[in-house]
Amino acid sequence: IQPKITVIGSINMDLVTRTSIIPKVGETVLGESFHTIPGGKGANQAVAAARLGADVTLIGSVGNDGFGSMLKEHLQKQGINTEYIKTVEGISTGIAAITLSEGDNSIIVVSGANNEVTPALITDYEQVIAKSDLILLQLEIQVKAVIEAVRLAKKHKVPVILNPAPIQKLPRDLLLQVDYLTPNEHEQTMLLSSIDEDELYDMKEKCIVTKGANGVTIYQHQKETTIPSYKVNAIDTTGAGDTFNGALAVSLSKGKTLQEACNFANAAAALSVTKLGAQTGIPTLEEVETFLGDSPQNNI
Ligand code: RIB
Ligand code: NA
Repeated sequence: IQPKITVIGSINMDLVTRTSIIPKVGETVLGESFHTIPGGKGANQAVAAARLGADVTLIGSVGNDGFGSMLKEHLQKQGINTEYIKTVEGISTGIAAITLSEGDNSIIVVSGANNEVTPALITDYEQVIAKSDLILLQLEIQVKAVIEAVRLAKKHKVPVILNPAPIQKLPRDLLLQVDYLTPNEHEQTMLLSSIDEDELYDMKEKCIVTKGANGVTIYQHQKETTIPSYKVNAIDTTGAGDTFNGALAVSLSKGKTLQEACNFANAAAALSVTKLGAQTGIPTLEEVETFLGDSPQNNI
């Protein structure tokens, strides 16, 4: 049976510009291409989990505008339950202005309606959380809403993955409550800086540290293990972390070991970077299975 995963997070329209020259302050350059592509860390992770076989509900918020209705409809078409996506008046749907230059990206996110995901909204959806097999969270909505989601999940003994991106200071209590944290190296350093010496061990054990081409590192029983990544030709890394998180959530809720789940998530993330755009690149379960079948085993 399909695991029930509830993602609580952001929904953005990504405005993707491709350019060979990044303008300096005061300068105008001619870019190469422009695309509007569904994005937002919450939505990306929800799409990844859905394409990879989970029964997904996304809790979030969009504005009452063109992008908002397009994004909601798009998520529905992915088979995601959009019943708990609120449409708010007078605030624009979240956007991300993304500049791609030679495979590297820089992003400006304007949260807009994503800021309307409030603790009160989460409290209203307690039953949705209670009925989930796993909750997946990021930090593009109010931290207070994340805190409330974790509180309810723990009340109902539902496991939580928190992808601490974009990184910000988080209450120590929140970090201690979540089951898994999926920072990159920079985010991990930031996270662990607020943790006392005696809690460091427990905190590290929760961390699944993503290192891009260098794979992911996990800590189990004081032992550090790195699960290598798959080598692909990267076109656009936007959303690779989100694909990783969505895939990890599916695999863990199917009862796979952490190592197996990381390997599966590495494969999904690798495939995602071979295409332009966050959600356009997210593979299906079939694609990941074919890829894993064809790819040389990566030491697992
Ligand atoms: O993680 C990638 C996402 O971050 C993009 O889709 C963009 O919307 C930003 O939120
Ligand atoms: Na991509």
